[in-house]
Amino acid sequence: KFKGLALTPPMGWNSWNKFACNVNEQLIRETADAMISSGMKAAGYTYINIDDCWHGQRDSLGFIHPDPERFPSGMKALAEYVHAKGLKFGIYSDAGSQTCGGRPGSRGYEFQDAQTYASWGVDYLKYDWCNTEGLKAEGAYMTMAAALQRAGRPIVLSICEWGTDKPWEWGPEVGQLWRTTGDIYNCFDCIEDHGTWQSFGVMQILDKQEGLRQYAGPGQWNDPDMMEVGNGMAVNEDRAHFTMWSMLAAPLIAGNDLRNMSKETTAILTNKEVIAVNQDKLGIQGFKLSSKDGLETWLKPLDDGNWAVVFLNRGDGPRKVEFDWKKNPITDELSKAELNASQTTYKIRNVWTKKAAGTTARSFKAEIPKYDVVMLVLSK
Ligand code: GLA
Repeated sequence: KFKGLALTPPMGWNSWNKFACNVNEQLIRETADAMISSGMKAAGYTYINIDDCWHGQRDSLGFIHPDPERFPSGMKALAEYVHAKGLKFGIYSDAGSQTCGGRPGSRGYEFQDAQTYASWGVDYLKYDWCNTEGLKAEGAYMTMAAALQRAGRPIVLSICEWGTDKPWEWGPEVGQLWRTTGDIYNCFDCIEDHGTWQSFGVMQILDKQEGLRQYAGPGQWNDPDMMEVGNGMAVNEDRAHFTMWSMLAAPLIAGNDLRNMSKETTAILTNKEVIAVNQDKLGIQGFKLSSKDGLETWLKPLDDGNWAVVFLNRGDGPRKVEFDWKKNPITDELSKAELNASQTTYKIRNVWTKKAAGTTARSFKAEIPKYDVVMLVLSK
């Protein structure tokens, strides 16, 4: 795989969660424009990624073409439009014979497709796993990684086999990120049953990240799926969702309509202090310290000996927090980082209210509404 890509979790936008198969070049151009006018680009979002259903047919020589009605100007022109805005361009394919949406997959055309993507100026490939009968995930993704390498353009490879074949074990050698679960949908605490498959709410996805943090780091990220912020959940739920994705060092791929964002959605997605936790250069995925009566305490070691701390209320009503920092010297077994408030008095910043919140000399107290968070950054 290409080294030096995605040294912090990739940030961008993807069409699927909001638009599903309704993609066309105008949407992509308008989204690129909105990325800038909304302040998203300034906050660090870079990738504009088209998901499934951009495809037309293969020609007689096997080359894939975009749907001529939805993308009449072609992919190269679209990539140039996105690049001219200082953004990066991503597309989607599938390791099998067809994509999940029934469009042509890359099976048997991997090297040809990689070359085509490189010639279009693609920077990011999400590579899905539908219709892959008889294929082994690791080998199939290695084939596409080799094809991208041969094509010679640095392209982020986003592995999307839903955690089926433990991609965290082989993904670090093959791509820059790998989905850990089935698909997310816009519900905070639910599971939706589709018969042969399920989609998961934010809390269900969160729980499925357990045991995976050791696999994450610069250039290799667990991907708990693209975000549902701005897609219909309550503001507090969106805030909690964004907070937890930041704590997980997850890719921050917005999945909403950037052209029509509420003030609240924009404020969540562009909170630079929360993003800084996600983008911390150590790239250490956060961990759950404790859980009691629906109230969870999460920690993430940051550069310079700083820490992010989150109290997440997923209980059935408001919860009171009282956290005595000094009573709890904490060592992260994975990174060996230590939070020792008896030795060091940390300054506390509440990154959602954007206010100083005292120091670790005193216990931290708050009441947290249902399905909301308090997020703090402790610095020396
Ligand atoms: C799968 C993926 C989704 C999306 C769709 C497109 O379900 O997990 O993220 O790409 O396919 O059809």
